[in-house]
Amino acid sequence: MSITLHIHATRETANKKVAREIAELIRAKPHAVLGLATGSTPIGVYEELVRLHHQEGLSFRQVCTFNLDEYQGIDLSHPESYWNFMHRHLFDHIDIPAANIHIPGTRVPSLELADYCKRYEELITVHGGIDYQILGIGRTGHIGFNEPGSPPDCRTRRILLDQLTREDAAPAFGDLDHVPTHAITMGCGTIMEARHIALLAFGTAKAAIVRKALRGPVSSQISASYLQNHEHTSFHLDHESASLL
Ligand code: F6R
Repeated sequence: MSITLHIHATRETANKKVAREIAELIRAKPHAVLGLATGSTPIGVYEELVRLHHQEGLSFRQVCTFNLDEYQGIDLSHPESYWNFMHRHLFDHIDIPAANIHIPGTRVPSLELADYCKRYEELITVHGGIDYQILGIGRTGHIGFNEPGSPPDCRTRRILLDQLTREDAAPAFGDLDHVPTHAITMGCGTIMEARHIALLAFGTAKAAIVRKALRGPVSSQISASYLQNHEHTSFHLDHESASLL
């Protein structure tokens, strides 16, 4: 098993390629299950999917989605909540029914966490599992919010965010003190069960971690390195993020 590597001339080419794969999947299987990521990286893919919806009639009416993660301790309406992000960049512009969208809540009470996370996993299973998972990668090597130390078989759970992850999020939240300390994330085991995975990474800031994920040993210190053991994973890079390979 090895990761399929695509080094694209531009981010736009990468975005179009991933969006086209998703469109082909949906046309072949209208009730496809998508695993979705937030952050700056997948925005271009969502823009392209919106374009395909408006200009080429791609319908999401039967598609079901599961987001990777969500911050804890902020309101859903907070501009940086992933609920808000997904509606702003994708869901408000396509024909997916609200009932088909799954994103972990932002204020899951501690006492309900275990049942809540178990239920999230069960819902993925009930819908037949994730057909196509979009991933970004954090500078800690996280996929979802599986920070260093996450075991390969971990499942959906609450996690303490790494200091580097919080620092990277600080500009969006105004300052570090406003960045949530915790999130709910799908686990590495959950992600690895997706039938196809596309990880996107752009820019020089991602070059070092992309190299470790692709070329380094498979290690719990770099969750993305687990993808080396997945049967259908592609990395979509630009020249900058691929510059240390
Ligand atoms: C987001 C997620 C994270 C991001 C990663 C990269 O749902 O799960 O793993 O993909 O932090 O973020 P950006 O794209 O902002 O560099």
